[in-house]
Amino acid sequence: MSGGAGFIGTHSVELLVAAGSSVLVIDDRSHPCEEALPREVKVLRADCGSPAAARALKAFKPDVALHLASKGGVQKAARDPGDHVKRSLASSVAFFDAAIKAGTRRIVTASSGGTIYGQDAKLPAREVHKAAPVSAYGAAKRAEEVYLAALGLRHGVSTLAVRYGNVYGPRQDGTGEAGVVAITCYRLLDGSPPLIYGDGGQTRDFVYVGDVAAANVAAIFGRMRGEVNIGTGRETSINAIVKHLLKAAGRLTESEFLPAREFEVRRVCLDSSRAHRHLHWKARVSIGSGLAATWSWFCKRPQIARVAR
Ligand SMILES: NC(=O)c1ccc[n+]([C@@H]2O[C@H](COP(=O)([O-])OP(=O)(O)OC[C@H]3O[C@@H](n4cnc5c(N)ncnc54)[C@H](O)[C@@H]3O)[C@@H](O)[C@H]2O)c1
Repeated sequence: MSGGAGFIGTHSVELLVAAGSSVLVIDDRSHPCEEALPREVKVLRADCGSPAAARALKAFKPDVALHLASKGGVQKAARDPGDHVKRSLASSVAFFDAAIKAGTRRIVTASSGGTIYGQDAKLPAREVHKAAPVSAYGAAKRAEEVYLAALGLRHGVSTLAVRYGNVYGPRQDGTGEAGVVAITCYRLLDGSPPLIYGDGGQTRDFVYVGDVAAANVAAIFGRMRGEVNIGTGRETSINAIVKHLLKAAGRLTESEFLPAREFEVRRVCLDSSRAHRHLHWKARVSIGSGLAATWSWFCKRPQIARVAR
């Protein structure tokens, strides 16, 4: 697995280990979460597209490869799309190629249902709808999907792109530019007001990280090919998220509003009936209980408690 030391990665590794799988994590630790990986996991600290990663894959001979490594989100990629291609897309393609050369029979890659369908998609978006990303990040995710499908066809390897909605939950970084739930938790504990870009009426399909890790496991062990949405089929506005978290925190603070960010679509909602049909997966955690679990995790973090003091 690439990117296994990150937010979605650590949750996925834990489920795989619990299911009895042997796991090799290749992660350059450019953005790891603080959670330690289970001791039985083999770890290589390297870029997933590097010769060292290719050698490790050859030695480990994985049946299935899960690709989660990626650098930066929508805003960072928009600032320097060329650099994003070099730092993310190039490594992704090299990782697919190395996994195939190591004899992998199936590759699953993390894609983005929030950015692939673009601005004018009929909602809830289905996989048959045309991909029309409006951001460099979404374009790179779509390019990754296309590369993976082409390499899979050429080499007889089965491939699947899992298109997540907005993933949130314990262990997400609250100090970056992406992840409104984690950022708001962090700010509330820091004594700062929630930050909202635009009017806060923009919606996303928020999916809990435990559900996403379960989807990854189902994708790894399944046979489905192509692309699949991993979301809840529900739209939640940023204002509603902030309201939930303010209530959990027992705060009455006014939010700070900043101008809307470029390249962000107004509404996202994913139809995940394909995932249900072919992977027997559906989101189980409601937004209320997912936000409560996330808030309570953030409250227990010593680093933030120190900031809050
Ligand atoms: N979090 C979301 O809401 C979301 C939504 C849609 C898609 N995704 C995708 O899911 C995947 C995982 O996201 P996440 O939220 O866990 O991110 P994350 O930043 O927490 O984890 C990514 C991990 O990959 C590692 N990494 C980055 N570049 C690397 C490279 N070239 N080689 C090896 N390791 C590298 C980082 O150190 C980190 O541990 C990414 O591909 C991301 O684009 C995430």
